[in-house]
Amino acid sequence: MKRIAINTGGGDAPGLNAVIYGAVHAAAAMGLEICGVRDGFEGLLAPEQYADGGLVHLDRAKVRNIAHLGGTILGTTNRGNPLKYEIRKPDGSTSQVDRSDELVERFHDAGINSLIAVGGDGTLGIAHHLCQKGMTVVGVPKTIDNDLQATVVTFGFDSAVSFATDCIDRLHATAESHRRVIVVEVMGRYAGWIALHAGIAGGADAILIPEIPFDLQRVAEHITRKTAGEQKYAIVVVAEGAKPVGGRHLVRSGSNAGRVERLGGIGEAVAEQLHEKTGKETRAVVLGHLLRGGSPTSLDRLLGLNFGAAAVRGLTEGRKGVMVALNPPRIEYVPLETAVSTQRLVPIDGNAVLTARALDISFGD
Ligand code: F6P
Repeated sequence: MKRIAINTGGGDAPGLNAVIYGAVHAAAAMGLEICGVRDGFEGLLAPEQYADGGLVHLDRAKVRNIAHLGGTILGTTNRGNPLKYEIRKPDGSTSQVDRSDELVERFHDAGINSLIAVGGDGTLGIAHHLCQKGMTVVGVPKTIDNDLQATVVTFGFDSAVSFATDCIDRLHATAESHRRVIVVEVMGRYAGWIALHAGIAGGADAILIPEIPFDLQRVAEHITRKTAGEQKYAIVVVAEGAKPVGGRHLVRSGSNAGRVERLGGIGEAVAEQLHEKTGKETRAVVLGHLLRGGSPTSLDRLLGLNFGAAAVRGLTEGRKGVMVALNPPRIEYVPLETAVSTQRLVPIDGNAVLTARALDISFGD
């Protein structure tokens, strides 16, 4: 292996810096050179935009104390898809070109033949394409939405759910004081993971997710019934991709220039209709990008660190065209008497231990 590159693409998620940290430390321990590509693939596709040429040499000093920080030290972008790269013509109009061959060439010119691509479905789709063009790529599943198959969880999800739950906890107090219905819109694109997990953890009275189209009349009746009892308020959690039976999700802006559509607006719409149907005072709160900011939870830090190290390990084992995936065992029943025996960490060499049994990281295609 010559030189490894790591990049972070698509929307940021808490834990990206932990992945970078884990990968850099694993590479250093194995005597491998690693560098970061700025802003997805932009560092290679538009190097003239960067004072450092778009590639950052990474070593232990460069990643000191970053694992607990949100965001990504490499930067990221939702634009710059090399397969649909937007170019501006002299007359001001734009068109899309496929720059993937050029990108592979630029990786090779920089002495890089292996890439750790940290991203969601968009970035990992591009990574898959680069693999088909001969690059050695290992993907790392990132997204607060948790909507990637083949891994039980993506990093970033736990931080988003924890924050959303905290917000719902706070909203109970104000909703109760005013006897209001508060509708909380959360991100998640076309999947309801964040809404479902935060809604259950936060004790919401109704949770609307894209996977189950809603009938607002029934939701209103449920709320009217509930608030006729001792509890005079209600909390409704709505995923941004939730849609009514027979309807479509609400879109803020359509897809263009290689960008996916932006969802949003359903929280406000649901709040208005619930007001009309229940007669109760309603308010809508959109958590939006707050779910992506802030420090990763300890789980996302551990996941990120382990994923980053596993990606480097996978490359040294000759794996390519794979994604690291977390697939721990399910909850099961064990004999009660086993609860009394202590499980200790297992030393694997002089100063390393098997850090977390639950982090059973495998390589899924
Ligand atoms: O995929 C992560 C995500 O935060 C989605 O939940 C949301 O729909 C989207 O990204 C928002 O993207 P942007 O950063 O373009 O606003």
